[in-house]
Amino acid sequence: MKSSNDQWNSKLYDQSHAFVSKLGQGIVELLAPKAGERILDLGCGTGDLANQLTDLGAQVVGIDQSENMIQEAKEKYPHITFHVEDATALPYRNEFDAVFSNATLHWIKSPKQALTCIYDALKPGGRFVAEFGGENNVEWIINAVLDQFKKQGIEDGDKRIPWYFPSIGEYTSLMEEVGFRVTFAQHFDRPTPLEGSHGLKNWLEMFGSSLFKGLTESQKAQLISGVEDSLREVMFRNGQWLADYKRIRVVGMKGSK
Ligand code: BEZ
Repeated sequence: MKSSNDQWNSKLYDQSHAFVSKLGQGIVELLAPKAGERILDLGCGTGDLANQLTDLGAQVVGIDQSENMIQEAKEKYPHITFHVEDATALPYRNEFDAVFSNATLHWIKSPKQALTCIYDALKPGGRFVAEFGGENNVEWIINAVLDQFKKQGIEDGDKRIPWYFPSIGEYTSLMEEVGFRVTFAQHFDRPTPLEGSHGLKNWLEMFGSSLFKGLTESQKAQLISGVEDSLREVMFRNGQWLADYKRIRVVGMKGSK
């Protein structure tokens, strides 16, 4: 069933944005799953990394807030358990050896609530391993979008930004507040190719749909082409767009008592 509130088009996501899972290899290595471990994949999308963890011998539960994504994940990987869940209201208690999350936590604007749920979901001694957008992530894109809002007389541009991009100081402090011992934290640049001459437009349409809520198609088209024009010189190289991604990677341990 397709939910009308669901902003995610799972087929388009798999066709044009499979790079999200491909670029998740580093965080899978940091997770270093062991055979038999129970792992919660928080924000599993269409299930590609959950499937990879399963192939490595883990018992995976994949969760995502999008019904469209979970339906697609179930169709692609019927042997894996997937559920629609809200990361800020998880039902799990002391169940998982690890909670893993790739490219999801920047969508959650109540980070402490999500971290509390993650902590509670882990067994004593369990680990939380995550990668997501950090401070100043895609700032060229955001600034260009905000400029275009102003040019079009749209006053509430700031409020339309749907992402949370914390510094590692801020995020690891929240982790400590909920009880984690932080054993690893990194904030690094990862310029990310957006395929094809329409790569930036496709990215904005896939990930930024809430930016355009309530705008007419012509306002939206004008906004996107304005953003492309203002960023072409710095972000379009050798026939492709290169987005200014800045990632955070963290590992936190839940105490064993
Ligand atoms: C990211 O993975 O950093 C990201 C993806 C979509 C929108 C914003 C950030």
